[in-house]
Amino acid sequence: MSQELSFAVIGCGFWAQYQIAAWQELEGAKIVAVCDQDDERAQQTAKKFGVSNYYTDAKNMLEQESLDFVDIITTIDTHAEFTQLAARYQLPAICQKPFAPDMDTARQMIMAHRAAGVPLFVHENFRWQAPIRRVKAILDSGEIGQAFKGRVTFTSAFPVFDNQPNLAELDRFILADVGSHTLDMVRFLFGEAANLRCLTQRVNPTISGEDVANVLLEMHSGVHCYAEMSYASVLEKEAFPHTLLLIEGSKGSVRLDHNYRIMVTTRERSYRKVATPKKYDWANPDYALVHSSMVNINQDFLTALQNGTKPETTAIDNYRTLQLVYECYRSAKMKQVITLEEPIFS
Ligand SMILES: NC(=O)c1ccc[n+]([C@@H]2O[C@H](COP(=O)([O-])OP(=O)(O)OC[C@H]3O[C@@H](n4cnc5c(N)ncnc54)[C@H](O)[C@@H]3O)[C@@H](O)[C@H]2O)c1
Repeated sequence: MSQELSFAVIGCGFWAQYQIAAWQELEGAKIVAVCDQDDERAQQTAKKFGVSNYYTDAKNMLEQESLDFVDIITTIDTHAEFTQLAARYQLPAICQKPFAPDMDTARQMIMAHRAAGVPLFVHENFRWQAPIRRVKAILDSGEIGQAFKGRVTFTSAFPVFDNQPNLAELDRFILADVGSHTLDMVRFLFGEAANLRCLTQRVNPTISGEDVANVLLEMHSGVHCYAEMSYASVLEKEAFPHTLLLIEGSKGSVRLDHNYRIMVTTRERSYRKVATPKKYDWANPDYALVHSSMVNINQDFLTALQNGTKPETTAIDNYRTLQLVYECYRSAKMKQVITLEEPIFS
């Protein structure tokens, strides 16, 4: 039997309420403490999930508790502070996306964990959604032949700022927040990008950042990929939080549609599959697909921590996703195609 690992959470806001519930689905991980600078929030979260200890100061928590890892669920501005704190205590850390506010900070976070000899993972869960995994398996099977074109769509008018008001104040919004996911799925499905061109727009005048981004990527695999993201799209059928896909290959195509429906079409036949994610009582119905994927990614992290192996979304892997995010901003600003440099980490 695998060793049970003790962990603590830093940040008890909106997303932590689901992330802790997702952890409690798994055997082998025990949450022993939570921390939030807001005393009441820390206390309420501890009570809700039956956690014995709560703190308002993360350093104090790491001093007091005997931990195997920490899960950082604060917003982007504190990710560097808390991952580096974890490194100082020689603790493996899981950090929410978007991993870092810029590439230099991401590098420093990775270097701090390398120097401490402890792993750093990024909680990039969208690639763990059941329909996305199913489409990837179809691609890998060769059924549609060699992919040459991919369309990855996250377009919605979901009132995201109701649950996450902080997002309305970010100068960089949809590429950093949704693009972290969408561009990571692009990498997951098609490999690494050679170059990209991005256009952004701000349609909602009440927010600070861009709420629409259109990215065209040329992948090293030869796939031409169009990744579109929007929180300003009032469509016939609201898709949130689904990512829709249309992938064309030399022998056929695969389409991921609403309600987890996957259509596979080849010259010989056309058929439909449904990749329904596992349902959990604690999941918010608006986010059920995403919440289910959190259990899957947490299992990948737990297995890696128990066995000393690598999960899919290490910080070094996510550095490449982050590079796409920030090069998209550069492309939009410069109005240029950006050729991607090989990242310094391997
Ligand atoms: N993977 C996903 O699908 C997904 C979805 C939503 C949010 N997220 C990510 O989760 C993270 C948190 O987002 P959220 O919506 O829960 O934010 P939030 O603002 O609701 O929660 C953040 C919490 O961190 C606490 N905090 C901030 N600074 C602190 C400090 N110095 N010490 C202790 N506590 C501190 C705040 O008091 C707050 O309770 C973000 O990185 C966000 O991008 C991921």
